[in-house]
Amino acid sequence: MEFPFDINNLFPERISTLDRNLGSGCEASRRPEPQDQIATVINELGRASAQAQQLAAPITSASKLRYSNHHLFLLKEGEGNGGRGVVVGFLKVGCKKLCLLDRRDAHVEAEPLCVLDFYVTDAMQRHGYGLELFDFMLRHRQAEPALMAYDRPSAKFLSFLAKHYSQTERVPQVNNFVVFCGFFLNGQGKVNLCTK
Ligand code: ACO
Repeated sequence: MEFPFDINNLFPERISTLDRNLGSGCEASRRPEPQDQIATVINELGRASAQAQQLAAPITSASKLRYSNHHLFLLKEGEGNGGRGVVVGFLKVGCKKLCLLDRRDAHVEAEPLCVLDFYVTDAMQRHGYGLELFDFMLRHRQAEPALMAYDRPSAKFLSFLAKHYSQTERVPQVNNFVVFCGFFLNGQGKVNLCTK
């Protein structure tokens, strides 16, 4: 995804972690212009993700991020667009209080780290970028795929989780979240709670 400004200036790292401050670790981000540019990038990514998932409206935007405790991981390729860099995709996670059903249909309250939105630009899908983003997020949040919940995952994302993290056995829920068997098998039968 190309933009009419320098992505490499805006996002010096290959993967940037953005929070409600739209911080990118970029010194220049304290100036208003880069903040506007970061918001433009997030809004474009949110729109493209919604389109790819055939959602009525984006679930990711700069204003939504500003009023949340979510983290957005943004991946760029530094080489494209005449050396200005291109945006490849993003992954958004956050903790949610959920009422879930365990394998015996008993109600369990949990506050797991959830994948809320995930998108790699159409032409760059199936080249390992999604895995790079997901692995980065797991290290950053010290998370495990089995102990996370997934908000309305698409068929592509379910295939991704099966292929890369062997997450296949779903425990049926009455809400839009998907959890896998390992969610309820975390050693001491404890509910999964966010630590950050
Ligand atoms: N059809 C089926 N499976 C796919 C497809 C596809 N078109 N694209 C990716 N996958 C899955 C497959 O398991 C694939 O392995 P394979 O090629 O051997 O079949 C694997 O992902 C490839 O892994 P990566 O290359 O690391 O993943 P990618 O960079 O494509 O990113 C992602 C995965 C984010 C799901 C991407 O395909 C995408 O953006 N899809 C459209 C938007 C979407 O569905 N996002 C998830 C929304 S749900 C949520 O966010 C909670």
